[in-house]
Amino acid sequence: HMPQPCAIVIFGATGDLAQRKILPTLAHLMHDHPLPQSFRIVAFARRPLDDEKWRTMALASINEYMAPDDRLDEQAQQQFASRLFYCRSNFDDPEGYQRLKQLLEKLDHEQGTEGNRLYYLATPPDTDSEIIAHLGAAGLNHAGQVSGNGNHGKSWARIIVEKPFGHDLSSAQRLNRDLGRVFRENQIYRIDHYMGKETVQNIMAFRFSNGIFEPLWNQRYVDHVQITVAESLGIGTRAEFYEGEGAIRDIVQNHIMQVLCLTAMEPPVAFDADAIRDEKVKVLRAIDPFTADEVKRNVVRAQYVAGEIDGEQVVGYKQEQGVALDSTTETFVALKLFIENWRWEDVPFYIRTGKHLPKRSTEVTIQFKRVPHQLYRPSETKGLVPNRLTMRIQPDEGISLKIGAKIPGAASQLSSVDMSFSYNEAFGIESPEAYERLIADCILGDSTLFIRRDEIEASWRIIDSITKTWQRLPASTIHTYRAGTWGPAEADELLERDGRSWDNP
Ligand code: BG6
Repeated sequence: HMPQPCAIVIFGATGDLAQRKILPTLAHLMHDHPLPQSFRIVAFARRPLDDEKWRTMALASINEYMAPDDRLDEQAQQQFASRLFYCRSNFDDPEGYQRLKQLLEKLDHEQGTEGNRLYYLATPPDTDSEIIAHLGAAGLNHAGQVSGNGNHGKSWARIIVEKPFGHDLSSAQRLNRDLGRVFRENQIYRIDHYMGKETVQNIMAFRFSNGIFEPLWNQRYVDHVQITVAESLGIGTRAEFYEGEGAIRDIVQNHIMQVLCLTAMEPPVAFDADAIRDEKVKVLRAIDPFTADEVKRNVVRAQYVAGEIDGEQVVGYKQEQGVALDSTTETFVALKLFIENWRWEDVPFYIRTGKHLPKRSTEVTIQFKRVPHQLYRPSETKGLVPNRLTMRIQPDEGISLKIGAKIPGAASQLSSVDMSFSYNEAFGIESPEAYERLIADCILGDSTLFIRRDEIEASWRIIDSITKTWQRLPASTIHTYRAGTWGPAEADELLERDGRSWDNP
């Protein structure tokens, strides 16, 4: 699999995402990985810049945002800069797309991009449909025609769409329809950056390359599953975006659902894009929409109030700049759901995410059932918990399994100890950035780690059932938690009711 040369067109290239993530990723890919020599990057943006000014801006960004160890030397920087081009246009100006087309054809002929185009929508979501329609009208949804360069009609055009992918089911469906009018599904790459994380991909490797866990991975042996995505950061300067979003749309609809799917899915028939995504979507289909009663009983939403993170005082959510004093946006969600299929019948999945929790940590915990018959006396097993497998997605990436062991000595005292694997110790290399893997896969035409249309819609169907009920509930049903704690008491009660408790990282 050799990546082919291509032109990468970034819409919203002067924006935050492009500057902080996409450009540094491309610069790193150029340097450390086989990005084809003749890839070119075209900015399609509104600001009055030209090639030179855009190059200066992009270099400043990669110098600021690339990890210090990865920074490019002077020569590599110049090489990177020489591949950047600027196409100034408003997103709604048909002539801008004609200019883009001419530029891309010129690059095909003069710079060897061979008619391959990758469009990257790093734009505010309300402009996506417009850009997609204009790309179609300008005929840019097809590969460029290049004669005599030996690409034999194998050229391609692909589009990457960033989150948020819709705000609810109907807007997601609308966006999918708009995309589907112009691009075929196999040209569309919907990004969820969690799928680019090594540790998330390793959920599959762990399950399907080991013979000994999969036989236990079901309702006979698993008591329950927990997924936590905890962040210590608050909403920072993102109030404008976050206010309309909240934790359930920002994290549960996408990142947590992806992790849940990989954890719960059946073994796919092959390691390929459709086989894997077929299994993921089956998990989502097995989750019934929440009834209003279930939302009241099994879903907890909350907002942080002033507190302390790492010894520093932080303000409450409503006091953040740009947040309304009567805001009903949740910064924390905990919920219990069931996957109603043969494997998972009656096994609760408890999931939670929140801003300003005590630490940044994403984990999946598989809590196994206790032994059928306890040989030891209660006084001997005080330090013992049933087997528990924890997949640490980030930070401190690794997997550990709690097992019971005898404490050395004459008495039969038992205790739980950890069998543990750490990525760092085992491999001694830093995991690549999620974006790097995803952009490289898109250039290679591998959509395994991208989200298919039906997955997005199945996930929104579940989320909609919760948010629709929330809209009808009084604001007093939004709980509060002190910043720097593990969420409101109600989130603990959700498990205590079932005789369980959260496994705090
Ligand atoms: C983004 C959310 O999708 O994911 C952010 O919009 C969140 O609110 C971020 O902070 C978390 O990503 P990561 O990779 O830091 O876990």
